[in-house]
Amino acid sequence: MRTHAQRLFLHLTLAVCAFGAALPAAAQKAANESAPVKLESLRDGTPITETKPINPARQERDSGPLDRDFVQQPPLIPHTINGYQITKNFNKCMDCHSFQRAKSSGATRVSVTHFRTREGQELDNISPRRYFCTQCHVPQTDAKPLMGNTFQRARGMQ
Ligand code: HEC
Ligand code: HEC
Repeated sequence: MRTHAQRLFLHLTLAVCAFGAALPAAAQKAANESAPVKLESLRDGTPITETKPINPARQERDSGPLDRDFVQQPPLIPHTINGYQITKNFNKCMDCHSFQRAKSSGATRVSVTHFRTREGQELDNISPRRYFCTQCHVPQTDAKPLMGNTFQRARGMQ
């Protein structure tokens, strides 16, 4: 059994707690009202029922090999790849980049690492895990970055 004094103390404590909890909420509300949070998305206010037109971006013109940002990087594709298809039966990239074709096309030969399977077995043709070139190698466009970033070239490559 609690005494009167104990009960009174309990009520008082509860009241103080409730008051204390209410204060920050009220302050928060006031702050929210004075500075509304502006939510922005990459859709820029285009309603969800509409399709935002894509920003026109052009692939950059063909150039010599582009500098790498870190040694293990898949080199960037320094030429357009418009219309180059990679299907189950045909790989346009290998038309120029295979060992047989590289000499006549002037393209860099695919790396020997691309002939190794996941288990380390060396094959006489491109390994299935390296078949879809654009999984790792990407062409460049003049598109503006969607988000800022602070990426810096690896120290060994500066
Ligand atoms: C018509 C021939 C041709 C086709 C097809 C082709 N390339 Fe190339 N590619 C080249 C040539 C030539 C170069 C070398 C440019 C130079 O060294 O000046 C090159 C360079 C590259 C490089 C840069 C290599 C480096 O060391 O920096 C990559 C990566 C590449 N191509 C990937 C691809 C991919 C992926 C495809 C298919 C989507 C493809 N290429 C299709 C001719 C071709
Ligand atoms: C899973 C990722 C991946 C895929 C798929 C891939 N590559 Fe690569 N590629 C790399 C990486 C990483 C390097 C650099 C390290 C190395 O040589 O293995 C590279 C290097 C290269 C190079 C430069 C070789 C050199 O001597 O400098 C060429 C050319 C190339 N790849 C072409 C291709 C082509 C063509 C295809 C498709 C048939 C392809 N790659 C598929 C990751 C990939």
